[in-house]
Amino acid sequence: MERTLCIIKPDAVRKKVQGHIIQKILDAGFQILGMKMRHLTEAQAKAFYSIHKEKPFYKDLVEFMTSGPVVTIALQKENAIADYRKLIGATDPAKADEGTVRKLYANNVQENAVHGSDSIENGKIEVGFFFSEAELAG
Ligand code: RTP
Ligand code: MG
Repeated sequence: MERTLCIIKPDAVRKKVQGHIIQKILDAGFQILGMKMRHLTEAQAKAFYSIHKEKPFYKDLVEFMTSGPVVTIALQKENAIADYRKLIGATDPAKADEGTVRKLYANNVQENAVHGSDSIENGKIEVGFFFSEAELAG
């Protein structure tokens, strides 16, 4: 079993499409282990996306991720990393496949509706960033 962290980003929460996104995740066979709404602090967003700290979009990304509440969801499934990234589609919604979460709900390459972990190792680390083991069910 692999774990991946989903974040429903501020743009999707503002659009009130959290329910649609969660249903797509469940329909794709993911188990929700933990779920919580939060308004990320600047320190949390900076730390979470620290891998991108040298990128030109880092400052904008931190501003965007702290611009409103998000929904953090710890997910579990066999092959969760690859299957979830297939479900959400490419980072840039213009390049995302039809029917993917980002094609349906993203505004642009930054405001792209959802986050997903990019490796098995990061899936574990990112779930642990927001949830203690005691908060995870199932
Ligand atoms: P994520 O980490 O959020 O799941 O997205 P990802 O793997 O598909 O994309 P990544 O390269 O890790 O980028 C992280 C997030 O930074 C924003 N971004 N903006 N302005 C830009 O060119 C740009 N590129 C990336 C997006 O919010 C992206 O999801
Ligand atoms: Mg990424």
